[in-house]
Amino acid sequence: MLKVIEHPLITHKLTQLRRRETGTKDFRHLLNEISGLMAYEISGDLPLNQVTIETPVGTCTTHEIVKDIVLIPILRAGLGMVDGITNLIPTAKVGHIGMYRNEKTLAPIAYYSKVPKNLSSAVVMVLDPMLATGGSASAAISGLKEEGATIIKLVCVVGAPEGVKKIESDHPDLDIYLAAVDERLNDKGYIVPGLGDAGDRLFGTK
Ligand code: PRP
Ligand code: URA
Repeated sequence: MLKVIEHPLITHKLTQLRRRETGTKDFRHLLNEISGLMAYEISGDLPLNQVTIETPVGTCTTHEIVKDIVLIPILRAGLGMVDGITNLIPTAKVGHIGMYRNEKTLAPIAYYSKVPKNLSSAVVMVLDPMLATGGSASAAISGLKEEGATIIKLVCVVGAPEGVKKIESDHPDLDIYLAAVDERLNDKGYIVPGLGDAGDRLFGTK
């Protein structure tokens, strides 16, 4: 199911992120801030276990998160979302999937994968700021399912309708979280109006 997280802080920061004149330093900072704000909403359904603990003053029956949380940034641009989420969930494990698009065919090409072992019992959050054709995210999710992942949340910042449709069709069992759904893809597979090439803007490579 698609969930568009609408919050004035996220909308404001996304506006700054989109601006052509926003440089690498601010882009990095804003992407992490947006990711943290999104994570707060996305973690709202995490299962809790009842525990009884001792405070300095007495016994307290309360709750804590039971599931392991695994973040899987899709390289490169997904790396820009990790710190903002680990600030909130410092015990999260982090796996990495390397994927880039063939510039002509837009097909995803996988070049790296290293993920934690316990995926079947974890809540897995796949991170990539851009959901364009959906090819990269869909291939990454298929790979994670082969590794045993069952509870998967796809967390992107800007999505195109085409990418949302592809994930809904390839992986109808998972939730997609976005801060905005834009108009369309252009003939080069870029999201319009989008924010340009997220990896290049994040790492200053263009
Ligand atoms: C970008 C982006 C996504 C992908 C989205 O990565 O970060 O991973 O494109 O496009 P898709 O939905 O059509 O697959 P890119 O291939 O530019 O690699 P990079 O992050 O290393 O720059
Ligand atoms: N990847 C990006 O970084 N930006 C887009 O608009 C599409 C794919």
